[in-house]
Amino acid sequence: MTNTPHGQWSSRWIFILAATGSAVGLGNIWKFPYTAGENGGGAFILMYLICVAAIGIPVMMAEIMLGRRGRQSPINAMHTLALEAQRHPIWKIIGWSGVVAGCLILSFYSVIAGWAIAYIPKMALGTFSGAGAEQANAVFNGLIGDPWILLVWHSLFMMMVITVIAKGLEKGLERAVSILMPTLFILLIALVLYAAFSSGAFMQGVQFMFATDFHALFYPGCTPEQTACEFSGQGVLSAMGLAFFSLSIGMGAIMMYGAYLPKNISITSSAITIAVADTLVALLAGLAIFPIVFANHLDPAAGPGLVFITLPIAFGHMGGGTVFGTLFFLLLVFAAWTSAFSLLEPVVAWLVESWRMTRTKAAIGCGIFIWLLGLLSVFSFNILSDFKPLSFLSSTPFADQTFFDLFDYLTSNIMLPIGGLLIAIFAAWVMQHAARREEMGAEPPDMSYNTWLFLIRYITPIGVALIFLNAIGLFS
Ligand code: TRP
Repeated sequence: MTNTPHGQWSSRWIFILAATGSAVGLGNIWKFPYTAGENGGGAFILMYLICVAAIGIPVMMAEIMLGRRGRQSPINAMHTLALEAQRHPIWKIIGWSGVVAGCLILSFYSVIAGWAIAYIPKMALGTFSGAGAEQANAVFNGLIGDPWILLVWHSLFMMMVITVIAKGLEKGLERAVSILMPTLFILLIALVLYAAFSSGAFMQGVQFMFATDFHALFYPGCTPEQTACEFSGQGVLSAMGLAFFSLSIGMGAIMMYGAYLPKNISITSSAITIAVADTLVALLAGLAIFPIVFANHLDPAAGPGLVFITLPIAFGHMGGGTVFGTLFFLLLVFAAWTSAFSLLEPVVAWLVESWRMTRTKAAIGCGIFIWLLGLLSVFSFNILSDFKPLSFLSSTPFADQTFFDLFDYLTSNIMLPIGGLLIAIFAAWVMQHAARREEMGAEPPDMSYNTWLFLIRYITPIGVALIFLNAIGLFS
């Protein structure tokens, strides 16, 4: 089979753009800075980079490879591949868990993308011109405190996603991505230059990001004077979870995109290109944001509002900030949009394949379900902000989490790494040698193939397992 019922990418470059569009999103610009800030900065970022290299890239290659060989949505692709390897079709559980994770992620992703939409008119109207930290905080808290406004933007974003998915492999989207992603990149560099030359705290920001203080990672919230500090493996788990989230791996999104990939394209170089671009955007976002945090005496551990409070302050003080600021949030919405596409596509493709639904019906049906689920995240910031559904699990990380926190933690830190682990095990140990080698296009003495096989066989599974064990306190 050379083609799927859904179509195929028109070139290698289009695949790379679409997959980079999936990877680069709120994870890089919104989540990376605040998660790094909450976990003490440098040592966390180092762990993140190690996870991207040793776990992320090998799993991404495995996903693309499995997708291209299976040529269907992750559930059906894994079914076919398990049968090809003469194993039990239960391996399609990878696809199932991906569908659940994808719905959960998109439900809160859409709410945060809604924040970014809300900031477009705010920036355009000059709400932040000359604003300080206090005013920026007030605007942000006013936004998330209002469930109706959040609901409006969440609904709009879900409609945007449904519309594109309903149309199928869209040339329009492919083309949009190829213009928008480079523009976003250039704007980010401009912001970094702004932070470098005018915040007065650039070096403080750089130091926060690159000084590797492992104490801050393993003993969160512990000052040097304290003696009885509590060890926590949660920071390293978050670094791994963020690597999975940011690279869009562990749930079948990249597997789905791999299914649309023509046969003759190098998986290794594609995966490396995508991961490097994704990492660069995250680091640039950090370099733009942390200097502003320190220059304005904000708290790097302020949480999900960090980007929405720091960047408007910077835009509010720079010449042309109204235009740049508006453009920036517009592009952030586009980046989120191209990511959301890959969260919905695997479910929709599965409904089309197995339930013989039309694309339109499938996209609308799933979209409504996810929109409803998103209401729990909308309310997590206002009317349900004190409601902790799992508060009875005291002394676990779940006890103090709202629905939004829970969905985020459960998917990034648990479901995606387990999905990635299963994908690694399947690709490395279950699939037959000949099939794997043929799909990777490797002739026997192939260094990059051998390196990948070594990583995916040993390093990736052992790494994920150790980080899990560390997080439940086994090595403390
Ligand atoms: N990677 C995207 C981001 O960084 C989010 C995303 C899109 C994603 N598809 C995914 C995360 C699949 C996990 C799995 O914003």
